[in-house]
Amino acid sequence: MNKIIYLDAAASYQKCESVIQTEIDFLTRNYANAGRGICARAVAVDDMVQRCRAKVAGFMNARTDQIVFTAGTTDAMNMLANMIPMSARTKLLVADIDHHSARLPFDQKVRARAGVINVCPLDDKLNIDVDNVPYADVFVITAMSNVLGMPQKVADIIRAARQKNPNVVTVVDAAQYVVHEKIDVRAWNCDFVCWSGHKIGADTGVGVLYIKNPESYMPVKFGGGMVNKIVGDKITWNNPPDVFEAGTLPLTQIAGLAQAIDELNQNRPNMELIKYAFDELQKIQNVKILSERDACVLTFVVDAMHVLDFGALMGARDVCLRVGNMCASWVFARLNLDGAIRLSVGAYNTIDDIKYFVKSVKEIVK
Ligand code: ALA
Repeated sequence: MNKIIYLDAAASYQKCESVIQTEIDFLTRNYANAGRGICARAVAVDDMVQRCRAKVAGFMNARTDQIVFTAGTTDAMNMLANMIPMSARTKLLVADIDHHSARLPFDQKVRARAGVINVCPLDDKLNIDVDNVPYADVFVITAMSNVLGMPQKVADIIRAARQKNPNVVTVVDAAQYVVHEKIDVRAWNCDFVCWSGHKIGADTGVGVLYIKNPESYMPVKFGGGMVNKIVGDKITWNNPPDVFEAGTLPLTQIAGLAQAIDELNQNRPNMELIKYAFDELQKIQNVKILSERDACVLTFVVDAMHVLDFGALMGARDVCLRVGNMCASWVFARLNLDGAIRLSVGAYNTIDDIKYFVKSVKEIVK
């Protein structure tokens, strides 16, 4: 029996049997490339990819031509930093709840162009302060901090940004949000959204990038599958989304992604488990909780104990947690800490997992 208590869904979600079986079936019975063949098997793979694209589009309230498959959130953010025009006059707006992968690609581009980087005010609970959103040309919006786990008011934040600049380009990092809350790109009125499949129980290596106006942007990756015709010097690109998907797609992972969305639509992670853990940890002296009770993760530190030591001791008890700075340096600077310990749950976690976690914490900090 595998007795690991896995409480690190926010780092990467465990895969359910149906996702694994879908990928096995694809690899063993249905495998071929997509967009490159006309035999029945290749056409069936094309259909599988288009069905998954349609499922993703429905999942986010988008059109299928607005959905681009990527390798994940980091890949999408790096693509966007090259796709969105930025110059020395660009005012980039970021916030201190950003994950490294959301902010750094834009930060690096704007620094190289000697543009301006502004930091959006947060309120006293470290949520984006909707009433004080400054002017921006490009605004990177973290829909949920991976450290604090609170859903941000994305629609209100974007409305506030558009009041300052109707032409602001809004990029939403939904990597941590997607497993907990419904994404509605029309209600958000955003320009771009990205997330990673492995955070919702699909495989690693596949992600989703939503582009509101795909006809307005040029691709930044070039290769097979994106070209309609080349005659002499004249290149005619394929229509979106294909023009943004150079090279062979992660087909096995796309097959699994469609199944993972079906599973998620039936069964989201149970946030009562987080509340239970919060209430229990609050009773333990020496534990300082950093997240809110109604957050989607539970993040804490233990007095006089390094987070890596705590993580190792929990690991020795077969409890898997995330410890460290969680690739979110800026929020830790705001908290005046080097790192913390985070518990997060998937739909597969039970109250017994949390009870075992609480018992283990008590043993360690007693
Ligand atoms: N960003 C991921 C996390 O929060 C990896 O763990």
